[in-house]
Amino acid sequence: MSKYSCEKCGMEFKQKSHYNQHLSRKTPCIKEAKLKEYIDKAVEEKINVMKQTLQTPELTIAPLTIAPLTIAQLTIAPLTIAPLTIIPAPTFIEVCAGGGGLSCGLMKAGFVPLLLNDNNKDCCETLKKNHPGIKVECASMDTLKLDEYINKVDLLTGGVPCQSFSQAGKRKGLKDPRGELMLKFADMIVILKPKIFMIENVKGLTTHDGGKTLIEIIKLLNKAELYNIEYRVLNSADYSVPQKRERVFIIGTLKTMDIVFNFPLKNSKPILLKHILQNLPESPCAKYSAEKIALFKQIPQGGCWVNLSEEQQKAYLGKSYLSGGGKRGILHRLSMEKPSLTLLCTPSQKQTERCHPLEERPLSVREYARIQTFADDYHFIGGMASQYKQIGNAVPVELARQMGECLKTALLA
Ligand SMILES: C[S@@+](CC[C@H](N)C(=O)[O-])C[C@H]1O[C@@H](n2cnc3c(N)ncnc32)[C@H](O)[C@@H]1O
Repeated sequence: MSKYSCEKCGMEFKQKSHYNQHLSRKTPCIKEAKLKEYIDKAVEEKINVMKQTLQTPELTIAPLTIAPLTIAQLTIAPLTIAPLTIIPAPTFIEVCAGGGGLSCGLMKAGFVPLLLNDNNKDCCETLKKNHPGIKVECASMDTLKLDEYINKVDLLTGGVPCQSFSQAGKRKGLKDPRGELMLKFADMIVILKPKIFMIENVKGLTTHDGGKTLIEIIKLLNKAELYNIEYRVLNSADYSVPQKRERVFIIGTLKTMDIVFNFPLKNSKPILLKHILQNLPESPCAKYSAEKIALFKQIPQGGCWVNLSEEQQKAYLGKSYLSGGGKRGILHRLSMEKPSLTLLCTPSQKQTERCHPLEERPLSVREYARIQTFADDYHFIGGMASQYKQIGNAVPVELARQMGECLKTALLA
């Protein structure tokens, strides 16, 4: 039985003389703070060696756990470090992936795509160009062969086409052939049984047919009743994106896995156009007619058709002059002091104009991409109209990344 114990290092002694000898050492025994420093250093070195050996960026290294030891044991025995646990990166399949806003953000958050799909050739070429080595299927989503992915998909997601629900479209909902793709997505859920599924769509889906369409869709997506489902309309401007863009996100989490998903927290400070419309690379840019340029010369930043003379307003708006609503999208000039209005598939339309804040022209392709938070080196394949469309259709990359972080947390918890 030890009678004497050192208060500093915990070492124990049977004989008082040994204990006294220990206390009177020239080099004092090790203190806890110093010991922690040694441990931290050893752990960091171990992580670096593991990372170099693995050279696999998709792998997440779980935090190291050090088995609890008394200080006395540590000073005597060599450091014991519990083995590293390697957690494989979460996987996803995305249908209707477009030019890749959502997939890009998910990949930034650490997800690995097993398959990206779109039926548009330019979109697929864009996906291939920016993500070499990733499987891209250029076909209608209802023709995809899924057998090889069963039980391998953590997240199934898709920007399943939205025109049939959009405010601007005819709003035929599920009866529209494009609405039917939602039924296909529901089938995919049953086949693949992902741990989580996520659908992004226009806000109009939440109000279509008095909200009945959304309820119908949720029932469809959950036909086997395996998922807890929630949805929320997010405005990109609340998530470090310089654009007011409202979209609904429907999230289903597998009931058997008790997954808890939390939507990302809103940022406190919006990103404004003046923060991002500078030092832009050269890129194609649509043009206005001479008539439109002359009108925009009279419209200040943040202004629109209301800034014209009554005569000009009537001439430009025609019949819609007498229709209700603010129509603030018509002849709208963006403001450097605000986030952009929602970008659309074309940079210039009579009803939805988004003129550059300082010049009489539409936004360029690269300005579009910046506002949608694509990196400047993300390439868009296809003609100018196709590039605008791919960008205008996308989930802003930064919002997708933040959603990805939340999805990953839910999956790994
Ligand atoms: C809203 S966009 C998706 C944008 C994408 N989520 C992003 O973040 O970039 C919808 C996409 O669905 C594609 N699409 C339409 N019908 C399709 C189908 N039957 N199969 C596959 N893709 C389809 C369109 O080509 C378009 O790129």
